[in-house]
Amino acid sequence: MYTVHKLADYSPTALDAAVRELLSALESESRAVNDESAWKDYRDRWVARKNGILTQINDAWLKAAPPDAKREVGKRVNSVREEVEHAFSLLRSDLERKIISESVTLVGGTLDEIRDWELKREGVDISLPGIRRPIGAEHPVIKAQNEMVAVFKSMGYSVSEGPEIETDYYNFEALNFPPNHPARDTQDTLFIAGQQSKPLRERLLLRTHTSPVQIRTMERLAPPIRVVIPGKVHRNDAPDASHSPMFHQIEGLAVDINITFCDLKGTLDHAMKAFFGSSVKTRFQPSFFPFTEPSAEVAISCIFCGGKGCRTCKQGGWIELLGCGMVDPNVFEFVRDNGYDPAKVSGFAFGMGADRIALLKYGVDDIQLFFQGDVRFLEQFA
Ligand code: DAH
Repeated sequence: MYTVHKLADYSPTALDAAVRELLSALESESRAVNDESAWKDYRDRWVARKNGILTQINDAWLKAAPPDAKREVGKRVNSVREEVEHAFSLLRSDLERKIISESVTLVGGTLDEIRDWELKREGVDISLPGIRRPIGAEHPVIKAQNEMVAVFKSMGYSVSEGPEIETDYYNFEALNFPPNHPARDTQDTLFIAGQQSKPLRERLLLRTHTSPVQIRTMERLAPPIRVVIPGKVHRNDAPDASHSPMFHQIEGLAVDINITFCDLKGTLDHAMKAFFGSSVKTRFQPSFFPFTEPSAEVAISCIFCGGKGCRTCKQGGWIELLGCGMVDPNVFEFVRDNGYDPAKVSGFAFGMGADRIALLKYGVDDIQLFFQGDVRFLEQFA
C-alpha cells in the first residue's frame, strides 16, 4: 500500500517520479472501490483533512521543501490535488449509477422490500407521500389578453412585442406628440431618473402605452402589415378599483393600400362580437389622439344589461372600451423610408386595455384583485 515519503531530491525528474508513483497508486486503489463502504475508506485515506494523503504530501513535500524548490513542488502538489479530487468525484458518480441500477432491479419486488432497502441505504422512507406542488394557471388578465389576440390571429394578424422601458422618441415623438405638446400631459408618465444629460428623444421612460411598438414594427417590416401587440404599460396613477400604475394593453395596427375607416369599423365590430358575444353592438364617437386622424372612442353595448342601463354602464347602456383611428400621415413620415409613403399607404390603429376587457368578461369589479396575488381569487380562473 502506498505511503508518503519525504523527498530527498527536489530535481524536476525526481519530483515527476514521485508524482507518477502516487498517481499509479491512486489508480489501482480507485479500481478496488466497488461499494459505499470501500468508497468511504478511500475518501478517508486520500482526502481526509486530518491525515489524508493530500494533507500528508502537503506537509512532507511542500512544507518541507527548501525555498528555491517550493514553486516546482507547489505546482505538482496542486496537480496531484486535482487528479485526486477528480478521481474521487468520478468514483462517486459511478457508485450512484450503480446504486440506482440496483434499485431499478429491486422495483420488481414488493413496495415493502423497496422501502426496507431504501431505509437501510439512506434512512429515507420512500413510501411517505411526496410534497405536491400545485401547477399554476394562466392569470385572468393574460387569459383575456390571449383570447383577444387569438381573435385577431384568426383574422390573419401577427403578434409583436416591444420593450417596457422605452425612449421618448418611440413613446411620444414618433407618435406625433411634439416636445412640450400638452397631449403629453394626458399620459402621466413615469420617467427614468438621471436622463437629463441625453438628448430628449433618447431619454428613457416606462412606456405609457403599447403604441410605440407601432413605430418599432413599421421600422422592422415594410407594408402591408397586420399586427397585434399585447404588453405591460405604466402610468403614474394612484391605484383604485379601476386604476393601477401597471396595466396591460393590446395594440393593433393594419397598414396597406386603400385601408379605410370602414375596415376599422368592421374589424373592431367583429372583434368585439367574437370576444364578448355576437349580440354585442359597437358605437364609434369622435375623439382625439395625436397619432390618428380621425380618431374615435369605441363603446360596446353593455354586456350586463344588454343596453337597457344598469350599475356597470352607469345607466347609459354603453361601456367605453378603446381608442382607435386612421394612422396620422405625420406618423408615417417617421417610417417613410421603409415604404410608408403617406400618399400611397393608409392604415388604422387601435388600443385597448387588457385588464379592462378581463374585468368585463369575468365580471370582476376591482382591478386591484388582479395584482394582489391572492390564490383564492386567482384559482377561480384556472
Ligand atoms: N395609446 C392610446 C392610449 O393609451 C390608445 C390608443 C388610441 C391606441 C388610439 C391606438 C389608437 O392605437 O389608434 O391612450
